[in-house]
Amino acid sequence: MLARSFLLLLTLATLSACQSGKQQGNSLNQPINWNKTYSGTYVARPGNPPAFNLLSVANREPRAEAIKSLGDAPVPIDLKNIEASIINGRTCLKFPLDKEEQIYGFGLNFKSVTQRGRIFRLHVDHYGSEDNGRTHAPVPFFISSKGYGVLVNAARYIDVSVGSAVRKDSKNPPVARDRNSDRAWDAQPYSDNIEMVIPEAGVEIILFTGKNLMEVVQRFNLYCGGGIIPPKWGLGFWQRTPTLYSEEDIRKETAGFDENHFPLDVVGLEPGWHSKSYPCTFEWDSLRFPKPENFIREMGSKGIHLNLWMNPYHSPGGTLDKKLKDFTGSHTVWCGTVADYTIPEARKIMQDHLVKNQLNIGASGFKIDEIDGFDSWLWPDGAIFPSGRDGEQMRQTYGLQMMTLMDEIYREKNERTYGLSRAANAGSVSYPYAIYNDNYSHKDFINALVNASFSGILWEPEVRASGSSEEWVRRMQTVCFSPMAMINAWADGTKPWSFPDVYRACQDVAFLRMQLLPYLYSTFAQYYFEGKPPFRAMQLADGFPATGEIKDQYMVGDNILVAPFFKGDTERKVILPPGKWFDFYTGILAGEGTINITAGLEKIPLFVRDGGLIPMISPIRQTSEWKTDMPLIVRVYGKADGHYNLYNDDGKSFDFEKGEYSIQELELKAGQSSVRQTKNTSFGYSGISWKFMTD
Ligand code: GAL
Repeated sequence: MLARSFLLLLTLATLSACQSGKQQGNSLNQPINWNKTYSGTYVARPGNPPAFNLLSVANREPRAEAIKSLGDAPVPIDLKNIEASIINGRTCLKFPLDKEEQIYGFGLNFKSVTQRGRIFRLHVDHYGSEDNGRTHAPVPFFISSKGYGVLVNAARYIDVSVGSAVRKDSKNPPVARDRNSDRAWDAQPYSDNIEMVIPEAGVEIILFTGKNLMEVVQRFNLYCGGGIIPPKWGLGFWQRTPTLYSEEDIRKETAGFDENHFPLDVVGLEPGWHSKSYPCTFEWDSLRFPKPENFIREMGSKGIHLNLWMNPYHSPGGTLDKKLKDFTGSHTVWCGTVADYTIPEARKIMQDHLVKNQLNIGASGFKIDEIDGFDSWLWPDGAIFPSGRDGEQMRQTYGLQMMTLMDEIYREKNERTYGLSRAANAGSVSYPYAIYNDNYSHKDFINALVNASFSGILWEPEVRASGSSEEWVRRMQTVCFSPMAMINAWADGTKPWSFPDVYRACQDVAFLRMQLLPYLYSTFAQYYFEGKPPFRAMQLADGFPATGEIKDQYMVGDNILVAPFFKGDTERKVILPPGKWFDFYTGILAGEGTINITAGLEKIPLFVRDGGLIPMISPIRQTSEWKTDMPLIVRVYGKADGHYNLYNDDGKSFDFEKGEYSIQELELKAGQSSVRQTKNTSFGYSGISWKFMTD
């Protein structure tokens, strides 16, 4: 909090400076005073920004030391070219945009990666098949290919024109053309700015620089608290069971995984564990779950964790509805009340209930559903909540509110959780939730996975029933290379073996994920320690030029490039970052630059950079079998020297935040391999050997 109070003082200074702003009609141009708060991090507060904003809800301190260790990077634009004015109680921001400049980010978009030319209203909502800003995580953060990024920290709907607004006084105006005679006439002439409108008379703006785009993203992530490391079980395989499944149904389901020899770490319970749902009671249904504590213990003894579906609306007459009655908003959702969790007493009531009835009997986490919208059943913008927040502020932050509420109770137990949420916003990077939705376009899902890396969120491209074995296996392959490997069978009851002709391939990719656990875990450690997203857009890959629309391939960590196939594809183009790249499976040189590939159904194309080291364990069915004394093979690709920080910790508590973890530096120099234990705690692997994949 100290850092933020210091900023507040600086803002007061800024505010007095604003009085000298130039009045034009009913607009007041605001001088912007930038204050450098950390290396490469500049904060400005034109006008009078309200204290309630996205980061105040997310409530995390910037990770000062980690930001410092990035060093500094110059601001690549003249800050004087960022302008603010306040008109009729709204703040209008203008950022410069060069001819060749490309813009990424603006939250969870599903169709595009480059955003120049787009018009958004950033608004939490269920994505409706169009990139217009209405999405599950409309994070008001953009990144410019020039090497900087900007967060507009407001819990409001924000209008954005990314290079479409043209000002009369523009220094780089478009050429005026006559459509009658000039074929080059364009309905969207060149614009040299990004404009944003925030419906508040002042706003906090945070600008991050970086030596490359990855560093911009790292700074943003670290400023918001840094990424997360899921508990180890969270990286195993997840199966969500159908609605209204009982204890007995779930026993049969898990037995099916044993019989079919398929990985399984987490079972997700969908509507049916609450005595009532839509809205929810948060009380166990006594018919389907007569003894939930015994059932959870029984599942735990089989190494299975339970994740509980919920929507945060309280069933009339239920215990929570009664206890929370003084803390709810003016409107209901499906006749359920909506608590205001910005009020500490309300949080406490909900938290105590969850701890007593769910956490203390062993529930490992939650799926927080329905908090994004749809307008037709959610509260309207004019809703009023007892804290004085309005419907819009609550809509933009309800996902964050639920995440922070859950985080506090799991931290209290010193137990990590991992779950799902259908809404997020800036600041959710340090909360352990993957975003998902009800749409089901495989391509959109991968586009979202790519974009999530620009916004400090994780996207989960879940698998549901598919129209063909081909589609099924392609989806299973990509979900196994995502933050959460999950089938969501809530409506259709599908199982990994639902398409027998491709079952072997599904099994192979699920076991491959399990073999890659040390790599995935170390990749998440980078998210926490360095702010590097685990699943990354190509623009964030080492040495990759920051241009172009690449939405169908991505990086997992530093070394693995994933080039998925979609239904109907028989060949595809893969754009490789500079240098030689090798086939993951064979170690054979795949090529350089842009290559064309074909692939059978049995594999997802994966490539590894020259000198890429990939630590792998033997195929296990559950993360409970993942031990430090098991053989760990470091695969070596290509001939270049390589270096890799292999991370490990207890896999379940927050002790790593206090230094309880180990790092083993794997090094390959001139063909000589070595392992150096640089952080000496008890989590190092003892059976490390090396496998040279390339002849
Ligand atoms: C939807 C959710 C689905 C499933 C369903 C259960 O809103 O997106 O994944 O949980 O609710 O009713």
